[in-house]
Amino acid sequence: MSEKKHRVSRRQFLNYTLTGVGGFMAAGMLMPMVRFALDPVLRPTAGQDLVAVTQVKDITNEPQRFDFKVKVVDAWHEADEPRSAWVYKNDKGEIVALSPVCKHLGCTVNWNGDKKKPNHFYCPCHGGLYTKDGKNVPGTPPVKGLDIYVQKVKDGTLYLGKAKPREGA
Ligand code: FES
Repeated sequence: MSEKKHRVSRRQFLNYTLTGVGGFMAAGMLMPMVRFALDPVLRPTAGQDLVAVTQVKDITNEPQRFDFKVKVVDAWHEADEPRSAWVYKNDKGEIVALSPVCKHLGCTVNWNGDKKKPNHFYCPCHGGLYTKDGKNVPGTPPVKGLDIYVQKVKDGTLYLGKAKPREGA
């Protein structure tokens, strides 16, 4: 009687076997698809940290606009995105690299864009003003200063990274 309890019928054997083999095959097919779908999302965002922008000897005391491209990898999409920076040497000889993106609504600021306000960054969209060091002029639309690029100088070349909000902003 107890021997009969443990016996597996032909039908049960086939069910177990087919379920096992079917499950194994399904896992074999699904795993690459799941991995393909998730891998780019789980991978840390790749991209260039620092990009060569200009030679240090070419940086003047007057802000100049430099355009460069940054490789951006976003999940399955990879592209060279354009960036710009206003770069100059301050009175101490330090390199300052400012984002041209206005902190009001994101237009592009220009150095000396308003002849009535010389030596300022000017945003033509709503009259935003920033001092040379990128601080917003009170009473104009932007309430924060321009972002500052992470920078590094190596072998006479200026490299720029991400533009970060200034402290306290
Ligand atoms: S977007 Fe620059 S002042 Fe409004």
